[in-house]
Amino acid sequence: MPTILDGRKIANDIKKEVAFKVTSLKDAGKRAPHLAIIICGDDSASHTYVGGKINACKTVGFDYTLMQVATTISEEKLIQHIDNLNQDPDIDGFIVQLPLPDHISVEKITGRILPEKDVDGFTNQNFGSIVTQNPLLLPATPFGIMELLKRYEIETKGKHCVVVGASRIAGAPLSLMMMQQGLATVTVCHKYTENLEAHTVSADILIVAVGKPGLITADMVKEGAVVIDVGTTRVDDASAKSGFRLKGDVDYDKVAPKTSFITPVPGGVGPMTIASLLMNTLRAYEMRIS
Ligand code: GUN
Repeated sequence: MPTILDGRKIANDIKKEVAFKVTSLKDAGKRAPHLAIIICGDDSASHTYVGGKINACKTVGFDYTLMQVATTISEEKLIQHIDNLNQDPDIDGFIVQLPLPDHISVEKITGRILPEKDVDGFTNQNFGSIVTQNPLLLPATPFGIMELLKRYEIETKGKHCVVVGASRIAGAPLSLMMMQQGLATVTVCHKYTENLEAHTVSADILIVAVGKPGLITADMVKEGAVVIDVGTTRVDDASAKSGFRLKGDVDYDKVAPKTSFITPVPGGVGPMTIASLLMNTLRAYEMRIS
């Protein structure tokens, strides 16, 4: 049977480490790191994710500011909020929760955030810094996955890592990090890839970040592979109290018995993204005060 990569447990370990540092800072008379979050509109999934981020701030002793803005906000006005946060000396890092309404350009908004406050790691400068010796603030989801692999002592060097999905916030930066830091041989598959299975079956480490529930079936996975599922899609489930449940991109029940390690959904990559956000905010704080 596989080892379940317990993102909740590892994220809790990281929270304890961050909380310990915050306590030491406060004991030394310093202020706590301060994270701000902008959320636009009332998408319930976004509010749930942001709630998790706020709770994590409370757990580790960070200061936090939640800015709720209307779906109808203009791009110009949202940019003004970003400029204010960029200039605010009390704010160490901030994020704009995605998705944004269609009339607002994600590229314009994320590109406006100062790289040293970009704790999601979305800006071009932080993306590019993956390939430098001293990365600044790493993209949060890929950072969390690398940390999960590290803490379970999973060897990546020389392994064949297949990343399915080439998005700007997950697949693309992750493939670079697996190559640069993980020293893996990387194949990136995306929506134009022909014969996806021909690639996935050769993966020692298979990472899937597409958002298509059940895309990866057992016949697409090599015996003994490490499987990381980044997908979290809400699907209707009348038996659940909320009326939905989260489903990953991997057909977990059928795939898991073939693997050596696998992440569950929920409880795998999701909590690690929040842990990365905390680590990045602490790093942003430390870079600012040093
Ligand atoms: N929406 C889904 N995932 C994320 C994330 O990691 N950061 C932000 N800002 N929005 C998201």
